[in-house]
Amino acid sequence: MKNLTQLFKNNRQWASKITEVNPDFFHDLKKQQSPEYLWIGCSDSRVPANEIVGLLPGELFVHRNIANLVIHTDMNCLSVLQYAVDILKIKHVIVCGHYGCGGVKAAMESQSHGLVDNWLRHVRDTWCRNQAEIEAIPNESERNNRLCELNVLDQVINVGMTTIIQDAWRRGQKIAIHGWIYDLADGLLKDLGVCISSHEDLCVLQKEK
Ligand code: CO
Repeated sequence: MKNLTQLFKNNRQWASKITEVNPDFFHDLKKQQSPEYLWIGCSDSRVPANEIVGLLPGELFVHRNIANLVIHTDMNCLSVLQYAVDILKIKHVIVCGHYGCGGVKAAMESQSHGLVDNWLRHVRDTWCRNQAEIEAIPNESERNNRLCELNVLDQVINVGMTTIIQDAWRRGQKIAIHGWIYDLADGLLKDLGVCISSHEDLCVLQKEK
């Protein structure tokens, strides 16, 4: 097995580029992190969280999984959220999906993809709940893109429904949850126009859906 030397070379270049601008960058960062944002995004290699929003190490707390899902029994995601809210005191949770998501596409297919189909069952549920709206869209990739958006909206609600966020709001901690989508075709983010920062906002969004 080769040592992936290119990656280590890249890493040295990356670190020296940063220290050229700020010689104390890593030294300062070692002491603590204080990001204001939690990013919940897709694992897709084409959606690199920090790069997309131009943030440096230390500025974005990140959780990624296939199809950017927030599942109430997923201890991994919940632990990230709890740490971000209770310890890091982040101010914004960004759920960011992306058009052309392979996970979303797979959830709409009848063929088997293995174990991952169990995970994607959650997206399929969103599809089933919105079948009439989605099926009215004539173009297949547009249908897929709409499900990508609806999936983000569902995950925004899921974040808001967690005991972590509910407790935070109850004790007056200010946290806003945003729903965004990223377009692989042009590298641009789109705000889906949902931003909830209270239990009341959450109820309104749930009723709209
Ligand atoms: Co994806």
